[in-house]
Amino acid sequence: MNTKTITDKAAIQTDFLPLEGTDYVEFYVGNAKQAAHYYMSAFGFQALAYAGPETGVKDRASYAVRQHKLTFVLTTALRTDNPIADHVYRHGDGVKALSLRVPDATSAWEETTKRGAKSYMEPTRLKDNDGEVVMSGIHTYGDTIHLFIERKNYNGAFMPGYRPWNNPYFKPADTGLLYVDHCVGNVGWNQMNPWVKFYEEVMGFKNILSFDDEDISTEYSALMSKVMSSGNGFVKFPINEPAEGKKKSQVEEYLEFYNGEGCQHVAMATNDIVKTVSDLQSRGVEFLKVPTSYYDDLLDRVGHIDEDLAPLRELGILVDRDNEGYLLQLFSKPVEDRPTLFFEIIQRKGAKSFGKGNFKALFEAIEREQEARGNL
Ligand code: FE2
Repeated sequence: MNTKTITDKAAIQTDFLPLEGTDYVEFYVGNAKQAAHYYMSAFGFQALAYAGPETGVKDRASYAVRQHKLTFVLTTALRTDNPIADHVYRHGDGVKALSLRVPDATSAWEETTKRGAKSYMEPTRLKDNDGEVVMSGIHTYGDTIHLFIERKNYNGAFMPGYRPWNNPYFKPADTGLLYVDHCVGNVGWNQMNPWVKFYEEVMGFKNILSFDDEDISTEYSALMSKVMSSGNGFVKFPINEPAEGKKKSQVEEYLEFYNGEGCQHVAMATNDIVKTVSDLQSRGVEFLKVPTSYYDDLLDRVGHIDEDLAPLRELGILVDRDNEGYLLQLFSKPVEDRPTLFFEIIQRKGAKSFGKGNFKALFEAIEREQEARGNL
């Protein structure tokens, strides 16, 4: 037991980019006020903080919402001549920043930029009466960025520049969503390996799993994926690229409608997926459905599971097992009109993998949606 502790400490000491987890995910959207309402009413987030003209921020409005360790920021431009407006014009609503909590944002920026990262924001000190946040940032795939957030000297609601925000008349119950499990990026043809190299060399990540087009293909379409993980495993970024098939890959559809590379899905963890998905569904979140025949031989494939089969079948929840345990997962439909960003709900019961056994059923479900949109 002591050996493990010593090994973990040694790993932290030699990690040039120690990450404490996901700090927040920031979305650039056409209407932040309404998007915030959607994440509160449909997903069970609570109002946390607001920044805009009333707090001295003149070009944007941002709403931070929180559920357990998950923090989302919905940001919109207030005027046309503005990089946020340009981002929304180009991509529609989407993820701008995958922000990572670090013990030292200055060091994070120095260590990554000296290894080749393109700077987005030099280390910047933000202060208010509640203390100080140091923030820096680098570019990753497409127009997406990683912000490094150092908040050990901050006690306010969210960040300097924000004021606490709540509505005493609107406090939707939470849905049991706990933290970001992983965030997946879709990149262009032949771009997966260059981005794998970026995460290895610039951020010190390891490639922990790889899937080729044999693993992830249906009769019609295919993709390839490699899972990148920070040294301590707190941050995981799978990277997908399209692969040749008879018809158009879901990754190609994403790239076409997002107008470039970007975040495909954010996976949010729960400890009770049946309750979480029931709650989300009753509040209007739509999920992909696999055929009920998926459940006919499920227990033969995955062995004993603690959950009753009936609610899993009813809700369309998928199950997969690896040699460490099993996981339950379900994917939403895209959460905007473009077929781009969606969410995954995941409950891990020992398994550290990503549901390889479900890929075929899942991608056939996605293809049915693509077909309905005329994009297959
Ligand atoms: Fe996922």
